[in-house]
Amino acid sequence: MKILIATEKPFAPVAIEGMKKVIEEAGAEMALLEKYTSRQELLDAVAADVDALIIRSDKVDAEVMAAAPKLKIVVRAGAGYDNVDLEAATAAGVSVQNTPGQNSNAVAELVFGLAVFMARNMFNGTSGWELKGKTLGIQAFGQVGRNVARIARGYEMNVSALDPYCPDDVMLEAGVSPVHNVEELYATNRVVSIHIPATAETRGSIGYDLVSTMPKGGLLINTARKEVIDEEGLMKALEERADLKYAADVAPARAAEFEEKFPGRVFFTPKKMGAQTAEANINAGIAAARQAIDFLTTGADRFRVNKK
Ligand code: 3PG
Repeated sequence: MKILIATEKPFAPVAIEGMKKVIEEAGAEMALLEKYTSRQELLDAVAADVDALIIRSDKVDAEVMAAAPKLKIVVRAGAGYDNVDLEAATAAGVSVQNTPGQNSNAVAELVFGLAVFMARNMFNGTSGWELKGKTLGIQAFGQVGRNVARIARGYEMNVSALDPYCPDDVMLEAGVSPVHNVEELYATNRVVSIHIPATAETRGSIGYDLVSTMPKGGLLINTARKEVIDEEGLMKALEERADLKYAADVAPARAAEFEEKFPGRVFFTPKKMGAQTAEANINAGIAAARQAIDFLTTGADRFRVNKK
């Protein structure tokens, strides 16, 4: 059994050590491809003898599957799997799994790093504002959203959340007020934090109509995916409302234009940083290694996200 870890953005070395241990203790071989700069390197690495592939935001499509005749499973060490072509995987008889929850605290902590940074005017010496007592709207109450709510309690924020797939009870138990439409979420919260996946439904779904209704001094934080934003609409809202701010992990396609037009009001991480902690790398990386081994040895397919 050969398991390839292929990550353009590497895991922390301590996570790789842990993954190696799990893989080798199961009698399998680990191969490592990090910081690759061309697609060909990935295609060459999966070729011939790789049974399982562990990735992060790395793009895996029909071409990758075709280059990997023995591939049986792709584990996305992380939550979002919009980087994997699920239909192509199903067609190739490959299981795709993610590792839900393993990096969610890391992403949630970054939300507050960004929130304080923006509320304090990027630490530029001018007077900012405090999170305490402010309203926070969480868009999607999955694993990350729930961690955001937990941390927000420490800041004494008033938290509400929108999630059509989550029962109100779950939110109420977490001290969060359920909101049932997206318009209300944006219109009533000083800070909105986005945690929806990038899907056909959500792509480009957050734009002018929502952002322009945010309360005075509104701050939009996106640690989900850049694709969920309608950049044209967001730009229009920021143009019209000089009080609004936007912080994102990771940069929009038109980042340079945003930065030029709205200095001090927008901030983007240069690379996706949400899950980039030793802890998240260890949690997600080791879970991915275990899931790959379990699948190859027992067929365990609990975290499968594609159709059979
Ligand atoms: C995820 O979906 O798990 C996060 O966006 C983290 O992505 P990354 O592993 O590429 O940092």
